[in-house]
Amino acid sequence: MTAAEADPFSLFAKWMHEAEQSEPNDPNAMCLATVDARGQPSARMVLLKDWDPAGFVFYTNLESRKAGDIGANARAALLFHWKSLKRQIRIEGTVGPVTDFEADEYFASRHRTSQIGAWASAQSRPMEGRFELEKRVAEYGLKFGLGAVPRPPHWSGFRVAPERIEFWQDRPFRLHDRFAYTWIDQDQWSLVHLFP
Ligand SMILES: Cc1cc2nc3c(=O)[nH]c(=O)nc-3n(C[C@H](O)[C@H](O)[C@H](O)COP(=O)(O)O)c2cc1C
Repeated sequence: MTAAEADPFSLFAKWMHEAEQSEPNDPNAMCLATVDARGQPSARMVLLKDWDPAGFVFYTNLESRKAGDIGANARAALLFHWKSLKRQIRIEGTVGPVTDFEADEYFASRHRTSQIGAWASAQSRPMEGRFELEKRVAEYGLKFGLGAVPRPPHWSGFRVAPERIEFWQDRPFRLHDRFAYTWIDQDQWSLVHLFP
């Protein structure tokens, strides 16, 4: 039986660490589900760039579809699936912006070409062809020359503050381990084991 721990974060840290050892790439990739103003859900992969008990952080374009959804409905779900470990973690909660300081710090750590890409990509909007993107990358490359690339005003991060975190571990004959933590208050979480 997978040991459920007193709070979900020590177990999350342990599973993430093991995923970093065993996944062939992007162990921090997670599916982000959002819901728009009409109630239409949509899901896409993003990368977890920071986390602590306050929440799980990803970065993106603030004019993208996902950011529009979050503007209309500040709730989201995250899903990790590590095939090499046969494990899943589901996280649900509220979403809010990271601070400008956090976004600046992370943006500054990115490769220069990724920084220019953040200026060049009008994420989620129609594009005539690949050439349009490459032209914009070249234009912003010239604009910023050799100097530092500032963070675009349309690029930042969001933090999903968890209210429920569910762990799933594969076991033989589909008799899997499954348990969920629900936030009570402060650092108090209730733990429930679930039928698989
Ligand atoms: C493994 C993987 C990681 C990704 N990470 C990010 C990310 O961290 N931020 C991001 O904006 N898009 C990321 N993407 C692209 C998104 O899945 C998506 O195509 C894009 O953000 C536009 O989504 P939207 O139109 O729903 O806003 C990633 C895609 C994959 C496959």
